[in-house]
Amino acid sequence: MKIALFASGSGSNAENIIACFRARHDVQLIEFPLIVSNKADAFVHERARKLGVPSFTFGKADFDNGAVLRLLQQYGIDGIVLAGFLLKVPDTLLQAFPDRIINIHPALLPKFGGKGMYGSHVHEAVVANHETESGITIHSVNEHYDEGAIIFQARCPVLPTDTADDVAAKVHALEYAHFPEVIAQFFEKK
Ligand code: GAR
Repeated sequence: MKIALFASGSGSNAENIIACFRARHDVQLIEFPLIVSNKADAFVHERARKLGVPSFTFGKADFDNGAVLRLLQQYGIDGIVLAGFLLKVPDTLLQAFPDRIINIHPALLPKFGGKGMYGSHVHEAVVANHETESGITIHSVNEHYDEGAIIFQARCPVLPTDTADDVAAKVHALEYAHFPEVIAQFFEKK
């Protein structure tokens, strides 16, 4: 299966996913032939260059009007993984990849989800709310932000002394540890 990675920022998850799959020999049926971003200056492009994976930037309209879909079709893409991707996935892509788009969210959904809840904003809200735990949620993507069926969650403690950066570090560690394996299991069943 060919999976497209979508990323809007640093791309550390995208890099970790590609590196993990390159190092594994039991899941060679899954490949990541390209990275798609909505930000030309996102650091994910630098990571893509180092990994030797082509990366592309599209404006919001291109996600809606079929330009991104055409590129994915040219690459024979079978599914999409959102790894820190901040635009809403348009209906054109949801229809083209039914139950084949998954997202990672840096909190325990349904808490701290929805529009505007991404990256550091999530961790700041977790700390402001005096939560005692946070974690990651990997879920399938539907037409509503962060509301698709939950595939996997993992938890980490949040201490009273933790800053948003401390929580981010714990959550990133969970992401790196679990996301590649969840991707492997999800797409191997398809
Ligand atoms: C990750 O923590 C991911 O869970 C989050 O963005 C970060 C991207 O980091 N995604 C969302 O907030 C989606 N709502 P990365 O660019 O270093 O992989």
